[in-house]
Amino acid sequence: MSDRFRDTVLDIRNLSVEFPTETELVKAVSGLTFQLERGQTIGIVGESGSGKSVTSQAVMGLVPSPGRVTSGEIWLKTSATIEPINLLALPEKQLRRYRGGEMAVIFQEPMSALNPVYTIGYQIVEAIRQHQTVTMAEAQQQAIERLQEVKLVADEASLREQVSRELEAEDGATSKRDVLKRVAQIKQDWLDRYPHQLSGGQLQRVTIAMAISSNPTLLIADEPTTALDVTVQATILKLLRELRDRHQMSMMLSRTIWA
Ligand SMILES: Nc1ncnc2c1ncn2[C@@H]1O[C@H](COP(=O)(O)OP(=O)(O)OP(=O)(O)O)[C@@H](O)[C@H]1O
Ligand SMILES: [Mg+2]
Repeated sequence: MSDRFRDTVLDIRNLSVEFPTETELVKAVSGLTFQLERGQTIGIVGESGSGKSVTSQAVMGLVPSPGRVTSGEIWLKTSATIEPINLLALPEKQLRRYRGGEMAVIFQEPMSALNPVYTIGYQIVEAIRQHQTVTMAEAQQQAIERLQEVKLVADEASLREQVSRELEAEDGATSKRDVLKRVAQIKQDWLDRYPHQLSGGQLQRVTIAMAISSNPTLLIADEPTTALDVTVQATILKLLRELRDRHQMSMMLSRTIWA
């Protein structure tokens, strides 16, 4: 690999994906080539049906049948390997190791990544335990930290300040022990919430927390804000940019534009 692409995380060359239908062959992606560097974002914009989602699916190795990749290479440089690997040449079993790990994904509709019958805490903990060997207590601690990172839960200092104020208003005096106890309760309450108790923007923060819990090299966000209202869209995009910089992730972000 030449020096110019030294820090290339994703290198897509001449990718084509086709869907055979009864009447015709739908060319969803034709000869797509681009490179994405570490810590960079690539924005994929196009009309509805222009192949944005199919491109994300191809990278994840999840093009739905009867669709198939008919040409190209998709090279990913993972944190674990020195040389990039061609995802398209990888057996499904190996690919599964990277999916949700080195490559994480956020969807347009947060509920497509969440299960309504489980608490958000349970689902984040499961995501963490899929890629790390940690105890339940450690996974729960990490889940809270991730929820703080995506700003669904206030950071530690703000939580303590807020609780101190509340306790003082209630009883006049407060002990540090009481403050810590109530802070722990607030955090536990967040983990115990069910998806239906959260707004769309809050749910998208939960799916982002799950996605980054595996410390991905590449974050694929297929229209992460389309289902949200405009002001929430802006804060989610700002959050994604912050997370990208903090974790030195590369991001593939897509968005429909209307011709
Ligand atoms: N499962 C499928 N079966 C058949 N054709 C499909 C399938 N998925 C996608 N296609 C076709 O592939 C093309 C690209 O679709 P894709 O979903 O990638 O578009 P998109 O750019 O993500 O659009 P949108 O902005 O509406 O999300 C379209 O012509 C679509 O009809
Ligand atoms: Mg799409």
